[in-house]
Amino acid sequence: MKRKRRRIKKQFLILIIIIIILLGALVLFRNKGSEKEYSEIAREIIKKEKIQEVYKEDYSQTLDEVLKNDAFNIAYLDEYLNITFNNDSEFITKINKYLEIGYKAQDINNIFKLSSKNQTKMLTLPKQTDFAKYIGIKNFNILNLERYKAYLQKEQKDLQTTVTYVNINLDKPFYTDSEEINPGNDLTIIVNKYHHVSKDYVPSDMKVLFDSTNNAKLIGVAADAYKLFIEAAKKDGITLQSTTAYRSYSFQNTLYTNYVAEDGKEKADTYSARPGSSEHQLGLAVDLNDPNYSAARLSDKDYEWVLNNSYKYGFILRYTKDNEPITGYMEEPWHIRYLGIDLATKVHDSGLTYEEYYDLYIMEY
Ligand code: DAL
Ligand code: ZN
Repeated sequence: MKRKRRRIKKQFLILIIIIIILLGALVLFRNKGSEKEYSEIAREIIKKEKIQEVYKEDYSQTLDEVLKNDAFNIAYLDEYLNITFNNDSEFITKINKYLEIGYKAQDINNIFKLSSKNQTKMLTLPKQTDFAKYIGIKNFNILNLERYKAYLQKEQKDLQTTVTYVNINLDKPFYTDSEEINPGNDLTIIVNKYHHVSKDYVPSDMKVLFDSTNNAKLIGVAADAYKLFIEAAKKDGITLQSTTAYRSYSFQNTLYTNYVAEDGKEKADTYSARPGSSEHQLGLAVDLNDPNYSAARLSDKDYEWVLNNSYKYGFILRYTKDNEPITGYMEEPWHIRYLGIDLATKVHDSGLTYEEYYDLYIMEY
């Protein structure tokens, strides 16, 4: 009997505890709800502007903030209610600007899912349409939106490929709108059929290659790396030497002009860069040769070694068979480009062309 009473008492106690926990949770929940009330200033404005209908909607921090900061346009009331607040330091200025451009709340919520650079660019662009599907694509550039749309329609590639290919200009014929770049001290710089250096550009701090018989030079760090690379090859029984490295604009011009005279422009463009567009002018590219191999510049065995090892010394192969559609050059197993060990390794491991890698991981959109 006593035991039964004790059991009932225990059950009763458990019930009380459960009720207390539930009540506690309820109070906590309600408090949280009551926190979400318009600030006093906002409440006054709501009264003054006779817009009490906003109380029928869920509390909107965005509306609260624009009212509090006296930065609202009554015409956009419904939009404010539906724009998700975020901590962007320019939040209020931005949303008012976007609203003026003609975006609705849903568009604006999507704009805030793009990179902050894109958000800024969109402040000065006319209203853009159909951009939300690119959310999450890291190299998306709102400035290229119309080009993506056109390319998508023409080539039917997936969105990520479309964005990258358009960013690297593959929607335009080679050498269209080539942009002049100034490498400065940047060893990662790209020159190709869409980017060139001026005819006066000469890299500073070049060094003659240790094995050169014809004064072939590279930028100092690349020349040092080249020596380690050739020595490592030698250890593995691979004999390589340099043929050309740095080429001035005028030398590249002579080469290209001669090739055009020989083969015509279309053909020459598949194997020679136009002056200004050669990596050789950067002092970061060197052509290799195997002196023991007479048939061509490199044997298959040499090439295999270069392919699997050059990145360890800071060099990548720019012109492989797979890269042809992107670089626009025929395969060049002998042409290596210095990037430094860290970047060369990343590019090698990515399996991408340097153009794609640069766009995806170096450019910031
Ligand atoms: N042959 C390479 C593409 C150059 O001319 O730079
Ligand atoms: Zn070359």
